[in-house]
Amino acid sequence: MATSPRELTQNPLKKIWMPWKNGLFVHILQRRVCMTNCPTLIVTVGLPARGKTYISKKLTRYLNWIGVPTKEFNVGQYRRECVKIYKSFEFFHPDNEEGLKIRRQCALTALKDVNQYLTVEGGQVAVFDATNTTRERRWTITRFAEQNSFKQVKLGSPDYIDCNTEEVIEDFMKRIKCYENSYQPLDDVLDKDLSYIKIMDVGRRYLVNRVLDHIQSRIVYYLMNIHITPRSIYLCRHGESDLNVKGCIGGDSGLSGRGKEFAKCLGKFIEEQNIKNLKVWTSQMKRTIQTAEAVALPYEQWKALNEIDAGVCEEMMYEEIQVHFPVEFSLRDQDKYRYRYPKGESYEDLVQRLEPVIMELERQENVLVICHQAVMRCLLAYFLDKSAEELPYLKCPLHTVLKLTPVAYGCKVESVWLNVEAVNTHRDRPENVDISRMPEEALFTVPAHQ
Ligand code: G3H
Repeated sequence: MATSPRELTQNPLKKIWMPWKNGLFVHILQRRVCMTNCPTLIVTVGLPARGKTYISKKLTRYLNWIGVPTKEFNVGQYRRECVKIYKSFEFFHPDNEEGLKIRRQCALTALKDVNQYLTVEGGQVAVFDATNTTRERRWTITRFAEQNSFKQVKLGSPDYIDCNTEEVIEDFMKRIKCYENSYQPLDDVLDKDLSYIKIMDVGRRYLVNRVLDHIQSRIVYYLMNIHITPRSIYLCRHGESDLNVKGCIGGDSGLSGRGKEFAKCLGKFIEEQNIKNLKVWTSQMKRTIQTAEAVALPYEQWKALNEIDAGVCEEMMYEEIQVHFPVEFSLRDQDKYRYRYPKGESYEDLVQRLEPVIMELERQENVLVICHQAVMRCLLAYFLDKSAEELPYLKCPLHTVLKLTPVAYGCKVESVWLNVEAVNTHRDRPENVDISRMPEEALFTVPAHQ
């Protein structure tokens, strides 16, 4: 089966690859001509069970979240769609002509789709999960197989429905053997012009070669920060504040009586969870700091975690915004993600502000983040792969802790309400978002308050 990244740039596929001018690989990153804003192709290669799909999915999610249109193309998925029923490792044997033909065809179909995405559909980055095109002997299967993620991923693979653990491991090991015979290693001399990052020993060592532009350097930085150590991230908002009770947005008020009650319950909840080396982060606003004070742990304040700045609308009720700034109010409803408050921020701005927080969350293990409604929506959207349209409407009620635990290719979410009543602060998008709408139509979804 094709091929090494070197071959991908030399064989007939060149015709398909040419329009993008550059290619960026995770294990092998290749680039032809330096152009500003030209699309980037990332190819993940390596033996099976080295985390290619994990990295492809995670990187795609991250790039989309920071606003770079990115799509993942998984050749294994194309193969599964083509060969509906997986029989055994023999399909991957180098002498299996039929298998080779199908796999080559699947790779070509995936590449055509990549081409369409980058040249017609406006995509900026394509992540091509090449399913095993090079040899990297330093990574042994035992190393990754020891990790829970390996078992979770392979036992849950559509290839192995109704198989027991031993059957899966046995078949999968044989499958790896099939690939090993035909792999080519990266060559320090022959591949010196390629842009690539080689990730060794599950992220213990990296080899970075020829990082040529901004997007490549962000990708490399991201890949050097992620890890697969099991952990959980706990997200919650501050306890109910005095301004929440009045139905006002923004400001820097302290906690209401019920807010203080929640803070105590949060402290108890965290203690009962008995979480190893838990870090606690807050914003620099009074209400998150007061909440963290009730948790018997040191906490770190992040300015980047402050609530969205509502500019001229700070400390106003939605009803007041409708009276004083009706046009602004409807413009926000038309595109809540991109709308920027006069002298304030948009959700899009907030995502940019939160990027260092996400990067540090990726580096850390167990963390409790005590934040704000808009901030929590942005963080949640990253972990749950939500679109810019969904993000500003994600439900993050007060007095509720969301426990996020990475599993296989996603995140498990457990929602824990700590049994302390609080005002509802969630306003859904009203049906009528037109500038000419009546005030009652604009205010139809405003939650009840004092
Ligand atoms: O302004 C502060 C709120 O927490 C954000 O709510 O974006 O749904 O209006 P909103």
